[in-house]
Amino acid sequence: MNVLVTGGAGYIGSHTVRALLERGCRVVVLDNLSRGHRGAVPDGVRLVVEDIHHVDAVRALLTEEGIDAVMHFAAHSQVGESMEKPTIYYDNNVVGSYCLLEAVRRAGVKYVVFSSTAAVYGEPEQTPITEDMPYCPTNVYGQTKLMIEQMLAQFSRAYGLRYAALRYFNAAGASRDGSIGEDHTPETHLIPLILQTAQGIRDHITIFGTDYPTEDGTCIRDYIHVVDLADAHCRVLQYLAEGGQSQAFNLGSQHGFSVRDMIRAAKAVTGRDFAVEEGPRRAGDPAALVASSEKIRRLTGWQPQYSQIETIIADAWKWHSGHPNGYDDKA
Ligand code: UFG
Repeated sequence: MNVLVTGGAGYIGSHTVRALLERGCRVVVLDNLSRGHRGAVPDGVRLVVEDIHHVDAVRALLTEEGIDAVMHFAAHSQVGESMEKPTIYYDNNVVGSYCLLEAVRRAGVKYVVFSSTAAVYGEPEQTPITEDMPYCPTNVYGQTKLMIEQMLAQFSRAYGLRYAALRYFNAAGASRDGSIGEDHTPETHLIPLILQTAQGIRDHITIFGTDYPTEDGTCIRDYIHVVDLADAHCRVLQYLAEGGQSQAFNLGSQHGFSVRDMIRAAKAVTGRDFAVEEGPRRAGDPAALVASSEKIRRLTGWQPQYSQIETIIADAWKWHSGHPNGYDDKA
């Protein structure tokens, strides 16, 4: 299959490019490099530096490359930023995805696998979260992803496009050999921040809130190894190609870990001690988010292989220790 990966120079996209190549797909990456990294795209893979807003250019690329499926990762993904600057989220995520889908429609591409998020559920009434639970995003980022899912469903009904929306819980870790990994500016995610503290790049890690209604008072999240996420994308594409129904799938490990659990595990895995401070809650953080991934397991046979927290942290540690400045491509 010929697959176009938008945002293929980003964190989850770049791991998925490798998984597709391992399965014998031909891959083209489309990325405007506003947040992605040229160094995350493997040698030999065509990187087209282009913006998803440009319908004619994207349509021409899809046709020229004989693309069968689009995996769509290109998006802004920072919750805090989305609340401060909603306009760039509506423009880049919603308008950009509309333009991409229009190019997909005009070029007659059959399949789209879309990078969605658990943030579409907001603060859930119960866990584990199943796909049929109410959508109630509490931030603009989650809202934009939900709008794109709705657009996909409408394009599917009207034009016969086949799609899957994958709602990630907390993507984490790095490639098994530590050669590619997470590099955001600014970094806001828990595991990279903990590991940068273990490296001495930061002087402490702050726990955002110790008064949540959880066993140790800190937030619980479902961390899923990025290599398991990448595998899920390949399986879902195969499922669609074999006639599977268009729909959304949760992607998590089905296990929840607290912020304190993650800090404890990071100290054990790295063998380093570091300073931990307790701070106030961060606005908009739900107490606990844990996925039911029963549906994707049942329909595609997906099974996480590497999502034990020690493996996630060990792989992320390989990446961070080998690349203290990330891809080292900042101006
Ligand atoms: N946290 C800290 N200290 C920090 C950073 C984070 O205590 O310095 C805590 C947060 O409060 C949260 C947990 O660690 O409880 C995880 O935080 P992250 O920022 O790593 O991840 P989030 O759960 O906030 O968000 C992630 C993705 C979002 C996605 C969401 C869906 O980054 O894009 O999961 O569940 F929307």
